[in-house]
Amino acid sequence: MIFGRVKPLDAILATAEKKSLHRSLGAFQLTMLGVGAIIGSGIFVLTAEAAQKAGPGMMLSFVMAGFVCAVAALCYAEMAAMVPVSGSAYTYSYAVMGELVAWLVGWALILEYAVAAGAVSVSWSGYVVGLIEHAAGIDIPVTFVLGPFDGGLINLPAMFIAGLVTWLLVVGTKESATINAILVAIKISALALFVALSVPVMNMEGFTPFAPLGFAGISAAAASIFFAYVGFDAVSTAAEETQNPQRNMPIGLIGSLAICTIFYILVAAGVIGTVGAQPVVGAGGEALAPGSKALSDQCALLAAEGREAISCSKEALAWSLREIGWPQIGNLIGLAAGLALPSVILMMMFGQTRIFFVMARDGLLPKAFSKVHPVYKTPHFITIVTGCFVAIFAAFFPVGILAEISNSGTLFAFAAVSIAVLALRRTDPHRARPFRTPAVKLTAPIAILGCLYLFWSLGDETKLMFLGWSTIGLIVYFAYGRKRSHVGRGAIEVYEVDDDAPPLPVQPATEQ
Ligand code: ALA
Repeated sequence: MIFGRVKPLDAILATAEKKSLHRSLGAFQLTMLGVGAIIGSGIFVLTAEAAQKAGPGMMLSFVMAGFVCAVAALCYAEMAAMVPVSGSAYTYSYAVMGELVAWLVGWALILEYAVAAGAVSVSWSGYVVGLIEHAAGIDIPVTFVLGPFDGGLINLPAMFIAGLVTWLLVVGTKESATINAILVAIKISALALFVALSVPVMNMEGFTPFAPLGFAGISAAAASIFFAYVGFDAVSTAAEETQNPQRNMPIGLIGSLAICTIFYILVAAGVIGTVGAQPVVGAGGEALAPGSKALSDQCALLAAEGREAISCSKEALAWSLREIGWPQIGNLIGLAAGLALPSVILMMMFGQTRIFFVMARDGLLPKAFSKVHPVYKTPHFITIVTGCFVAIFAAFFPVGILAEISNSGTLFAFAAVSIAVLALRRTDPHRARPFRTPAVKLTAPIAILGCLYLFWSLGDETKLMFLGWSTIGLIVYFAYGRKRSHVGRGAIEVYEVDDDAPPLPVQPATEQ
């Protein structure tokens, strides 16, 4: 039977039991872990994309995306606390819905992680190029710092940062808890500074018309801006290291999402009220699609007339501050993004290698994918392969398109996890659950519907791309993985410890 290949939960848990982590994280640390993993290019860059899609209504888009993430996070946390092993959504799906669904989820997670790493690399490039141009007064030709969709040829700085992070991962760099804490502080300070300088000088005229492209525009922007919240799963996966998870998990998840949502809404208000957020329109008054050649041409025209718009900026927050008379602080925000975004790329690429590692260990991908370097003890082969793809995405695609593609995979995975939670409550009601999703019969269906709605609100090209990607995934599965699957061949391994998987790039906060 096609859905019959289930990896027994007991075998998965036996792996987890061998690895007992110290329960040390409290509510505050969890919340900070979440804020650190969440804040990234979404708010620093995609604000421009959201403005182009929704105008000032993007404030509602942030609330919508944050709400869907909150309900999905509560479901995710139940699984993460129950099955605390590598592989996240892929592993949960394997235990509950079988190998085929797990494969599709794992395949979709490639979009979530690798494509997202590309998106953040492009964002980093936008800020660093802007910083060099404004702080050092050097004019860099767009040909080599923007991809073809944005009017350039190749984005070399984005390729550079993807290559650098790949190298760091190959040699086994770990970000210490201290560096992580410093980066969180830098990101929060940058956003707080932006809010402090922009909100007091807001002009209410910027808020009308509030929704120039209607509710459809607000939903479309929510589907893009969802990217700004991705990363909260870092909190769910720390369930095993959490004291009193039933209390602290929801505080950490909802707390970090709430803090980010408040920041995002204030930042959006600051942008709208100072530099305005009305979409850039074409000659016929039609709103132009973000990431399109038409928009970049129109932006070039506006720039020539000295009438730039937020939707045209590759460094939305720094640009806004320069526009309202704070050029040095704008540069400082650029510096903050330049320092903090590489750690988001590191987390994303690390997540990708770990998923590949677990899938290869299950026999669904070639063994070479789980090869570990004799000296560095890192999965160097798959890290380099991942790095090459990330660099190619980053070189040629705009951040908005990459973020949307990444969101399609993430939404699929989150919906699958929410279904798995409901299914497991029915099929295995007595299993110990360190954290139980509150009002699961309501929360899980809302999460599933929310993910479906945001998926539906993605652009048509993104949805087609996702279908194409899943189809390729099915072909690969039936041509390769199905025959070689260890579960399919009746071999259910229990690993001695889970730490033959690559080590975490961020050490737990308590190891300082
Ligand atoms: N939430 C992360 C970001 O916005 C992925 O960069």
